[in-house]
Amino acid sequence: MRTLTIVKPDAVAAGKAGAILARLEAEGFRFVALRLIRLTKQEAEGFYAVHRERPFFGSLTDFMSSGPAIAAVVEREDAISALRRLMGATNPEQAEAGTIRAAYAASIERNAIHGSDAPETAAFEIGYFFPGVDLP
Ligand code: RTP
Ligand code: MG
Repeated sequence: MRTLTIVKPDAVAAGKAGAILARLEAEGFRFVALRLIRLTKQEAEGFYAVHRERPFFGSLTDFMSSGPAIAAVVEREDAISALRRLMGATNPEQAEAGTIRAAYAASIERNAIHGSDAPETAAFEIGYFFPGVDLP
């Protein structure tokens, strides 16, 4: 099973991308596709369109288009929920010890990593960055 992850611009700028990708490998994720992305504001808005009515949408899409990030399709048993567990809570103050966000996130917005939250969103998000890569 596959899911989409993004090492967000804060983690890339902080030089933590390699550590985060290594952690994914250590937890049994295999890379199916990977690329450096530099989102425009419009691309960030399209990616997070589900949040367009939320008060943090403008700030979130500014942040996600603020610098290079790394998008990857990763594969593992139970990939979607396993990645969400490994990421930790959205707000790093609530993220469990040992999670990527507990280690690397600075705030509820600048939180180091993205992971798809359901099979439907994984399919949309994989297609957004890697047209031609299938979900299974
Ligand atoms: P993601 O989609 O990036 O994997 O994060 P998530 O599921 O844990 O959180 P979600 O609710 O989908 O929110 C998407 C991203 O928006 C930013 N955010 N800011 N200021 C705020 O209250 C707030 N809430 C969310 C975060 O970057 C969050 O990851
Ligand atoms: Mg989300």
